[in-house]
Amino acid sequence: MAKVIDDSMPTRISPDCPDETRQVLYHAWGHDLEGLKKILNARANASSAQDPKTGETPLHAAIRACGPADQTEPEGEDEEDGCVQEARDIVQELFFNGAIWNDVDSNNETPGCVADRLGRKALYGMCVDAGVRAELLFALMDGYEELSSGSDGGEDEDNKEDEKMADAEGSTAEGLKGDAAAAQDGAKFVPPEADEKPVTSDEYLKSDLTYDNEKLLDADLNGVMMAWETDIMKRSVSALLPGGATGKRILNVGFGMGIIDGMFAENKPSRHHIIEAHPAVLEHASKPDSKFGPEWEKSGPEEGAYKIHAGRWQDVVHRLLEEGEVYDAIYFDTFGEDYSQLREFFTELIPGLLEQDGRFSFFNGLGADRKICYDVYTKVVEMHGAEAGLDVEWEEIDVDMSALGEEGKEYRLPICTFMG
Ligand SMILES: C[S@@+](CC[C@H](N)C(=O)[O-])C[C@H]1O[C@@H](n2cnc3c(N)ncnc32)[C@H](O)[C@@H]1O
Repeated sequence: MAKVIDDSMPTRISPDCPDETRQVLYHAWGHDLEGLKKILNARANASSAQDPKTGETPLHAAIRACGPADQTEPEGEDEEDGCVQEARDIVQELFFNGAIWNDVDSNNETPGCVADRLGRKALYGMCVDAGVRAELLFALMDGYEELSSGSDGGEDEDNKEDEKMADAEGSTAEGLKGDAAAAQDGAKFVPPEADEKPVTSDEYLKSDLTYDNEKLLDADLNGVMMAWETDIMKRSVSALLPGGATGKRILNVGFGMGIIDGMFAENKPSRHHIIEAHPAVLEHASKPDSKFGPEWEKSGPEEGAYKIHAGRWQDVVHRLLEEGEVYDAIYFDTFGEDYSQLREFFTELIPGLLEQDGRFSFFNGLGADRKICYDVYTKVVEMHGAEAGLDVEWEEIDVDMSALGEEGKEYRLPICTFMG
């Protein structure tokens, strides 16, 4: 059952809140634009002030103060009840002043999550747009050498914001955790789950793995691949090989449990290349009872047509490009990598690897456990795709999770093709 959240002001602005922060939160909550502007002009970083106990930021406060939208209003008119226009002005002012779109509060909600829960679509849209702007900016900055602020050696606020954007780059809500170490001083809000450690690619590739029929787990028991994802793999194959086309040239990045490769193999490809980096997965794939062992490699229409390329795609793909390999269908599903890796793959490598009328898809776990992150990444992928000349379409799928005793999940399956 969904947790009942108390949105009242006395609950959200705690008695322990320092006066300076309290003033910002009160003005945001009261939608007092002029008063808020004065504070924002007078004090740096006021837009990101945060109640140390509840994690309330001025964005949360401005949105929460609207209360739930009137669900009886016809579609499109639900925004005009109460004080939404005033809230929009406040939210805009806060974003102009550098408010952070993905700070979580003690309910593990970002301001956008609050807007969504309250049915405040226009405010939710503003949070998504702010997220997209932040992520695009972050992606741009990623390409530049980090410049030292040369200041007094203390961490300045700009750097903190960069870190948060860096965090948001994580492929899931991992990205929404603040800096737990910085929060240890007690004066700052510690986000829920702040102690969870994101998996890094280097650590993962060195870790021990365990296979069973249902899953592949890393040493920390993170699910690398789960059998419940089979339906997503099946739908991805249908999207990549419409009409069950046979004789195609296929590249799959990330073998895992070999689920998608088993499905690709049924379509009798003319070339089937797999890239896999983890030694334990490679060992598993080469076992005598594996469908992708030496016998499979020998069964291809010509030497080298069916092959598992051992190594990280970051290394292997350049070799494939030099050898002139081109594919009709490419699938990408790795583990322990973040959006910047996926972006590098589809913006820098897909243009050379994919046939002009070919199709590319990837496992879309980007922010999947938080609706706003999913929506932000959907737009960011479309924009980065367009820069690389790719059109991105999405197929919405309901994933059945009943085998795990969980509610079904919505999955957005990407299908990328070259424009024009
Ligand atoms: C989620 S699993 C893939 C599951 C697969 N789609 C299936 O149907 O079973 C991710 C795989 O990517 C591999 N991997 C992770 N990083 C990689 C990298 N940089 N290059 C190649 N493979 C990588 C992992 O070892 C793992 O086998």
